[in-house]
Amino acid sequence: MDAADQNWWRGAAIYQVYVRSFADGNGDGTGDLAGVRARLPYLAELGVDALWFTPWYLSPLADGGYDVADYRTIDPAFGTLAEAEKLISEARDLGLRTIVDIVPNHVSDQHPWFRAALAAGPGSPERELFHFRPGRGENGELPPNDWPSEFPGAPTWTRVPDGDWYLHLFTPRQPDLNWAHPAVRREHEDILRFWFERGVAGVRIDSAALLAKDPDLPDFVQGDTPHPFVDRDELHDIYRSWRAVADEYGAVFVGEVWLPDAERFARYLRPDELHTAFNFDFMTRPWDAAELRRSIDRTLGEHAGIGAPATWVLCNHDVTRTVTRYGREDTAFAFAAKRFGTPTDLALGTRRARAAALLSLALPGAVYLYQGEELGLPEAELTPDRIQDPMHFRSGGVDPGRDGCRVPMPWAADEPYAGFGSTGEPWLPQPVDWAAYAADRQATDPASVLALYRAALRIRRTRPGFGDGPLHWLASPEGVLAFSRPGGLVCVVNTAAAPVELPAHTAVLLTSGPLAATGRLPRDTAVWLRA
Ligand code: GLC
Repeated sequence: MDAADQNWWRGAAIYQVYVRSFADGNGDGTGDLAGVRARLPYLAELGVDALWFTPWYLSPLADGGYDVADYRTIDPAFGTLAEAEKLISEARDLGLRTIVDIVPNHVSDQHPWFRAALAAGPGSPERELFHFRPGRGENGELPPNDWPSEFPGAPTWTRVPDGDWYLHLFTPRQPDLNWAHPAVRREHEDILRFWFERGVAGVRIDSAALLAKDPDLPDFVQGDTPHPFVDRDELHDIYRSWRAVADEYGAVFVGEVWLPDAERFARYLRPDELHTAFNFDFMTRPWDAAELRRSIDRTLGEHAGIGAPATWVLCNHDVTRTVTRYGREDTAFAFAAKRFGTPTDLALGTRRARAAALLSLALPGAVYLYQGEELGLPEAELTPDRIQDPMHFRSGGVDPGRDGCRVPMPWAADEPYAGFGSTGEPWLPQPVDWAAYAADRQATDPASVLALYRAALRIRRTRPGFGDGPLHWLASPEGVLAFSRPGGLVCVVNTAAAPVELPAHTAVLLTSGPLAATGRLPRDTAVWLRA
């Protein structure tokens, strides 16, 4: 491997595959590895560098696979380990690297460790792998502490019949592991090796800032530092030893690190820790040039000192789809603000999402795309009786949950279920107009979102100035972002009302929508220029 090859992750375009909803190869209504394998040519043609697969391991799917019962087995709904191995090597042959998703904070309640812990009873060594405690109150009827859940509105402790309680920051079906226990650390390093041996190039670390807990499990006091379970210093030691394992294989990490504090965030990206982490600050900002610029500056600033590349994310399997978010009055993202029936202008949202695509693909660093983003899929509003996401139920039915961005992909306009799978009804219902978004229809339409992504990714791969490297802001009117990248690349994004004059250029490489007759850049449009 030459240096450029080794540094692929510093400027990669990485496509997130939510396996359950990507493509159904066996016609049972659930996406699977056979479906992904059949669509690898589509992904190669799209022009991405790597694929991140959300958890595909054995799981009761109580949280869409983020409840793992066995990391060394593929869930039979998705396929087999042999198929995963084939998929990894076939993808590689097409120039696509594979990233798997590891969920170290918790396991499924069906994981053998947790079943053994339940069977072994209070005070047993088996229970030490988790956070089991007696309750408070006269008869232990109160939970051991008052920690808030990561799925708001629900308890974090569940009592088992013998009287002990166990901690779960997410659902009761996802008991938290005790990361102070050496066996927990050993096991995860072993899991990393298991997948690195199978040729995966990277690992996404789920809930990466939550693993370490204050051993005393004290009550939560707002504003107290250190926090009893978020961003604790002990985590860095864990990730240093993970890094040593990854380095043996030349593999890389991307951490799911939600932290408001830029300095604390950057600590995870020190040279002997994680290679990258998702940049959620950018994802949550509204469609507003000043806000976006603040986020870009903050991001580049926090990364500059540590030498790690930034990442850019517009959406993923947990948040409102981009075209929907940008089509609403409030274009920022916040979990707590999600409601049923929010008015949405999809035409407006789509124009903005197209512009945001060119923006994020031109920024320094790596960029993540979530399946369906390249089709401009909107968030589906599911009726409550079809929702499966525990986040919806744990909120008491107030939060629509995350299934609206997990609806099975439309591949072929004229086939049953828009070509997701030939026979079985998809596990989540597709909206009636889903066929209009089908990949086959968009592939032949030069004005489609898919055509835009293909063109942008092709330019990003073949022309200089993209990915890792410096950014230089250019003077621009209010409401407009303008910056240059190495080699004369210029990106201009207009979020303001009036069309703006383009800076001097020798060529227009790509626009997210038509320029005005005057050659000006209209509102909610972006352009790539060669200066
Ligand atoms: C992460 C995942 C999310 C999951 C949670 C618990 O935030 O992205 O989908 O529900 O962790 O594992």
